[in-house]
Amino acid sequence: MTITDNRSGQSVQVPIVDGGVDASEWRKLLPGVWFYDPALMTTASTPSAITDLDGENGILRYRGYPIEQLAEHSTYLEVAYLLIHGELPTAQQYEPWVHEITYHTFIHENVRKRFLEGFHHDAHPMGMLVSAIAALSTFYPEANNISDPDNRYKQIVRLIAKMPTLAAACHRNSVGMPFVYPDNSLNFTENFLAMLWKVAEPRYAANPTLARALDVLFILHADHEQNCGTTAMRTVGSAHADPYVSTASAAAALYGPRHGGANEAVIHMLTQIGSVDRVPQFIEDVKAGRGRLQGFGHRVYKSYDPRAAIIKKTADDVFAITGKNPLLDIALAIEEVALSDDYFISRKLYPNVDFYSGLIYQAMGFPTEMFTVLFAIPRTAGWLAHWVELLEQDQKIVRPRQIYTGVGARDYVAMDGRT
Ligand code: CMC
Repeated sequence: MTITDNRSGQSVQVPIVDGGVDASEWRKLLPGVWFYDPALMTTASTPSAITDLDGENGILRYRGYPIEQLAEHSTYLEVAYLLIHGELPTAQQYEPWVHEITYHTFIHENVRKRFLEGFHHDAHPMGMLVSAIAALSTFYPEANNISDPDNRYKQIVRLIAKMPTLAAACHRNSVGMPFVYPDNSLNFTENFLAMLWKVAEPRYAANPTLARALDVLFILHADHEQNCGTTAMRTVGSAHADPYVSTASAAAALYGPRHGGANEAVIHMLTQIGSVDRVPQFIEDVKAGRGRLQGFGHRVYKSYDPRAAIIKKTADDVFAITGKNPLLDIALAIEEVALSDDYFISRKLYPNVDFYSGLIYQAMGFPTEMFTVLFAIPRTAGWLAHWVELLEQDQKIVRPRQIYTGVGARDYVAMDGRT
């Protein structure tokens, strides 16, 4: 591309590489003129070799592997290894990986007793989780040595391993149940379910279909390139903050209802609608600008969200065990009406990952407040893969510019002189 500054007649040639143009070339030609791109809608903030997302064609691949194949054949821990290391593990690599994750699931007693138990009984588990992840930074002060790859790796294992334990502890605290210690004889997902649901039985045996369904959901949520949470991770990580506080910042972004909080918002919306016959009026309200259809639309996907298609199939497996979620009929009616309505078609609004995941979580017995926590557990692998990539790229600190629109210079006025 040739860009010409019409004021001076000067030109610069910028090659298009991998679908992007190097903005530093533009900066040379236009010093002091900034690209105005709120919400970074037209900005590629980094090269990345982790997740390939083609929103026009509904394609999602982790390290080149289609999400459909990973969801069908792999486990979440295999996918976490793939995201972090770049390759699927061999049997010799997988066994020590699983062992390490399994043996790092315990959390320091003070995290639970002093810290988590200090929250108010009705504290939102996402607020607790974000704080608890950040608090881990104080338990592993060596984590701030981010330049040592071995040290980084240790924190990655700790974070992936401890997320389910923290998540379960947040839940148990909010329902007034005693904390359940990790059981190293169980796999990642079964162990999480045991820490959540165990009551008085000596060993909690998760239903294998439900455990597998949750594992598939973990795979689907493990990464999604430069979304809001991952961008927070990379932004805070670019300041060379330690991985715990960086992950806490990513989880904080995920908490928002426009992001990972949407799965919770979907259930609130479906409950509020209440019955299938009220769907058309609800759709009319959305079209008139009175609220949004939660679980619909995506910044990148403009044909369909491939994760939503897999989740719909997983929902059938789960409902065969738990019985159908009564809100499912309302969701299906919404999807049917919306997908044939020009408002949604013209804006390319389709169900996203959050539209059906909440229905599954609810049928499995999770309280709605836990839904975003269930998103954060697997997304930790993705956040950390991006964190390592960022450090290996030796990226500069994220520091965008602004277009200043405030008042110009003026003199201080004493309080009694102000109007
Ligand atoms: N319901 C109704 N209208 C919508 C919706 C929706 N869910 N999403 C977008 N629109 C309309 C919007 O009003 C706008 O219309 P117009 O051009 O007439 O002003 C147009 O579609 C474009 O919307 P936008 O807000 O510019 O799109 P965006 O890319 O900034 O927002 C989004 C993406 C996901 C935040 C948005 O679609 C949304 O708020 N969806 C509901 C929340 C949700 O489901 N979020 C989960 C996203 S997937 C998982 C994740 O990211 O964690």
